[in-house]
Amino acid sequence: MNVLILGSGGREHALAWKIKQSNSLEKLFIAPGNAGTADIAENVAIGVSDFKAQEDFIKKNDISLLLVGPEAPLVEGVCDYFREKLPKLMVIGPSKAGAELEGSKAAAKKFMNRHDVPTAAYRSFDRSEVKEASDFLNNLNPPYVLKADGLAAGKGVLILDDLEEAKKEVNAMLSGNKFGEAGERLVIEEFLDGIEMSVFVLTDGKDYKMLPSAKDYKRIGEGDRGLNTGGMGAVSPVPFCDEALQKKIKEKVVEPSVRGLAKDEIDYKGFLFIGLMIVNQEPYVIEYNVRMGDPETEVVMPRIESDFLKSLIACAKGELANNEMSLSQDAATTVMLVSGGYPEAYEKGKEITGLDETGDCILFHAGTKMDGDKLVTNGGRVIAITATGINFKDALAKSYRNADRILFEGKYFRKDIGFDLM
Ligand code: AMP
Ligand code: GLY
Repeated sequence: MNVLILGSGGREHALAWKIKQSNSLEKLFIAPGNAGTADIAENVAIGVSDFKAQEDFIKKNDISLLLVGPEAPLVEGVCDYFREKLPKLMVIGPSKAGAELEGSKAAAKKFMNRHDVPTAAYRSFDRSEVKEASDFLNNLNPPYVLKADGLAAGKGVLILDDLEEAKKEVNAMLSGNKFGEAGERLVIEEFLDGIEMSVFVLTDGKDYKMLPSAKDYKRIGEGDRGLNTGGMGAVSPVPFCDEALQKKIKEKVVEPSVRGLAKDEIDYKGFLFIGLMIVNQEPYVIEYNVRMGDPETEVVMPRIESDFLKSLIACAKGELANNEMSLSQDAATTVMLVSGGYPEAYEKGKEITGLDETGDCILFHAGTKMDGDKLVTNGGRVIAITATGINFKDALAKSYRNADRILFEGKYFRKDIGFDLM
């Protein structure tokens, strides 16, 4: 069958790499893709939110399955669009109602409370409730966790120690001056002191399959300092997540979440990415995302041994219960090479060399493109260097050996991925 993937990052390159291995695949297309995806599939110059152009392309190229990578088209309703216009097309992604779990923090918190999913205590406030929000802060202990309700590219969470500063930020958010519309509704929640990890679920809205767990490193600086990024590296599996904790995560978090989708009659055939804080060996949900993580996908895909396209087909048909998925015992790590200056201003168009010198790793392109016959940088995150090994230290050594071999002006990467797990 022919498959179309929407997106252009390392996540989509990793999804494409895995799907490419399936015997069920005929032709693979990616819209818009990057220089790396062009090596294994056909890039198509269509934007992720241009549903009409996608529809025309899907009809013309006999596409049977559409896999949506990033959150924006999901929140905009891409799955509802295609379920209405092309009911025979298999679509991997939640409906717009399902995408609310990522698109609105307040809606996600309500869902968790409604379905008894453990999470931090919270209250939400709208534009008319600046005073109520301030009063609520008076009753909390620091640090104060403020979350813009809407999509804010991973930057919508503020954690502040100072009460007056927190009140100022509440004002700025609710007035629309900070995070624009995304901040016009606000969630204030209890601070959870623990260690973070993520689990990934493929669900057809009734049944689910656990994908490998992962931990990502979001801050730009070593020791988890500095500004938040999309993610600077990741490790899978999470070494501290033993069997007892895995069982709790399944029983207390994953199963009530999936049952909640069914109870709420939400059409959901896609990924659920659950960000967790583990506090005294107990899992609490920090956030839901309705797509795979980036760079987590770059360590999750290499650990799936079975035919992933078959699992996606089963998911789209609502037959996941009959699908067998097998996972590798190996560890996988990824180290993201980024442009100098990222996550603030950075330059694009820098020539990338040294790819031929690499070995014993998988290169997943994030922000790259071809400029004539030269490979050049085309984003903040440039290339993810994934490796596998018998444990994460073994895999990391390979990721880092290869990180040194790839060169471009301004290249930066964190040298301490996995540091907290040693
Ligand atoms: P989010 O965008 O919801 O993933 O939040 C960004 C980051 O803020 C998370 O990765 C956590 O490190 C932190 N965070 C979010 N909520 C809480 C909380 N309730 N307690 C402590 N840290 C939090
Ligand atoms: N790496 C975090 C995310 O994809 O949201």
